[in-house]
Amino acid sequence: MKSAKPYIEKNKDRFIDELIELLKIPSISADSAYKKDVLKTAEAVKKQLEKAGCDAVEICETPGYPIVYGEKMIDKKLPTILVYGHYDVQPPDPLDLWESPPFEPVIKKTKLHPEGAIFARGSCDDKGQMYMHVKALEYMTETDQLPCNVKFMIEGEEEVGSSSLEWFVSKNHDKLANDVILISDTGMISKNTPSITTGLRGLSYVEVEVTGPNRDLHSGLYGGAVANPINVLTKMIASLHDENNHITIPGFYDDVEELSKEEREKMAEAPFNLKDYEESIAIDSVYGEKGYSTNERNSIRPTLDVNGIWGGYIGEGAKTVIASQAFAKISMRLVPNQDWKKITELFKNHFESIAPKGVRVKVKPHHGGQAYVTPINSLGYKAAEKAYEETFGKTPIPQRSGGSIPIVALFEKELKSKTILMGFGLDSDAIHSPNEHFGIWNYLKGIETIPQFYHFFTEMSK
Ligand code: BES
Ligand code: MN
Ligand code: MN
Repeated sequence: MKSAKPYIEKNKDRFIDELIELLKIPSISADSAYKKDVLKTAEAVKKQLEKAGCDAVEICETPGYPIVYGEKMIDKKLPTILVYGHYDVQPPDPLDLWESPPFEPVIKKTKLHPEGAIFARGSCDDKGQMYMHVKALEYMTETDQLPCNVKFMIEGEEEVGSSSLEWFVSKNHDKLANDVILISDTGMISKNTPSITTGLRGLSYVEVEVTGPNRDLHSGLYGGAVANPINVLTKMIASLHDENNHITIPGFYDDVEELSKEEREKMAEAPFNLKDYEESIAIDSVYGEKGYSTNERNSIRPTLDVNGIWGGYIGEGAKTVIASQAFAKISMRLVPNQDWKKITELFKNHFESIAPKGVRVKVKPHHGGQAYVTPINSLGYKAAEKAYEETFGKTPIPQRSGGSIPIVALFEKELKSKTILMGFGLDSDAIHSPNEHFGIWNYLKGIETIPQFYHFFTEMSK
């Protein structure tokens, strides 16, 4: 495979412009007000896949948002790479914290991206990273170098739990048959330190509701005499961690995979500067489970976090009131061997059991998924390693990530193939946050590296 560098150099302005067009469509899967835009994005992805050289591109209907499927089969005897990505994005809120509107992409220079970065919701997660694969395919087809078969499966519900994809995968084993799954929807350590993601955390997401009196009450007339749902909820939530920041739900850690001393030592070798980490998010100190380092806390250890909490009066000024109800959304990040359905059940039982008299508690499970780990001696991993060596001149470091792509564990179970996570984002790219961006250098480096993966994977499969 010839270096894609000259082709990228010649076409980079167009590559950037095309991505910008895609980023202008607000494909927010969580908000039904944007349904038309989500569907429009699927059409736009289809068109681009066709242009890039896919032979058969379809919009596959599902009970939810459609899946864009495309393929280019050149020879049944050659290996097949299945590329997965998502065209939906997170809601952009809080809007007032964006320096430029989330769906009006602009290019700005930053400290880590002196070449410029595209600021827009979805620029890194995942439109930008998904589109690297479309442009990598264009390079290989335009220069007659595609070495193997390729299938694309781009979904529109990743940010809301991928339930339609689950349905689609279970119904289409033959259509999706492949030798390796390739995904760019994660990050890398830094521009100087390429890494391959070898693990993802699982997830259990629940919503809780605490109900007290049948109406909001005067907090003077009733205060002190009835359970205040907000007081109760916050106390219940606070009790979910002990003084060492261990989670107190009975049985929560029973199945947690413990890493060996050697594995932990190996992890600690990855470059990491605690001061830079703290400074980058303006905190004076990190915080977390006793006995584990920051990088362990955010990757190989399970967590429980409140993602949102509400109830009572939050308007201007003061209103003296005891709310009838209080609510919270809670996520638990899980590690290998923890079963997300079992953890959801443990949470529900425990949370209901700690409710004091005077309130009723409801736990509503949302979605979830299993954690994922992949070995570093698989064919796919070795091919990815060689691809990075070719384009970065360095061997990438295997790294477990704290994020979740729940569908990856399911791919392995259903399609029986390994997933290789070649992410090109940086933690500082602010995915899910205001001012999300994706470095142009990272975008183009991804387009350069992906064809090398195709090459080495095909060669090593012989
Ligand atoms: N691309 C992210 C996951 C990710 C980002 C993994 C960076 C590793 C590094 C994905 O779009 C995402 O946001 N996943 C959700 C879970 C999903 C079920 C909503 C997450 O991790 O919160
Ligand atoms: Mn993503
Ligand atoms: Mn995401």
